[in-house]
Amino acid sequence: MDILELIKYRRSIRRYTDKQVPEEDLLKVLEAGAYAPNAGGGQRSRFVACQDKALNDTIGKLNAACLDRSRLAGSFVSKEQPSIIDDPSIRSGFYGAPTVITIFGPKNFLYSVPDAFCAAENMVLEATALGLSSCILARGEETFSAPEGKEILRN
Ligand SMILES: Cc1cc2nc3c(=O)[nH]c(=O)nc-3n(C[C@H](O)[C@H](O)[C@H](O)COP(=O)(O)O)c2cc1C
Repeated sequence: MDILELIKYRRSIRRYTDKQVPEEDLLKVLEAGAYAPNAGGGQRSRFVACQDKALNDTIGKLNAACLDRSRLAGSFVSKEQPSIIDDPSIRSGFYGAPTVITIFGPKNFLYSVPDAFCAAENMVLEATALGLSSCILARGEETFSAPEGKEILRN
């Protein structure tokens, strides 16, 4: 598949099995993120991959709870792959994904967020090439600014 075909083929998937992502594939996805364009070439992003189901469930629920429904410009995402916007009964913003990669960046850097999403795009494309389902997620800042999120970062 050439790159344009891959870009067109990729879709956000919000239903996952428990089958874990092999380490070899996870490393390739992280490597793709590390080669993303980034502001000034500073490579400030840090990736944390979590394959702990209980921890992903806890953080995923916190992530969903951080959704501010009063600030949604559109109210519909997908019928086939409903998001937490479409279906408020979905409790985890991670949709039960067995592997979750969180992208951290310096708080005081102007381009931490754009850097993170450039890395995320590279990662989902590599995941697609490897036959892995994926979805880019938002609310990282809110999740880890909430008291429970800060506590998780401390431990
Ligand atoms: C910046 C950004 C934030 C996103 N945040 C979420 C999210 O929090 N939850 C979610 O289910 N999908 C999220 N998505 C995925 C989009 O909903 C998805 O890309 C869009 O509906 C188009 O569908 P597609 O990826 O299948 O082409 C996000 C995508 C981007 C680019």
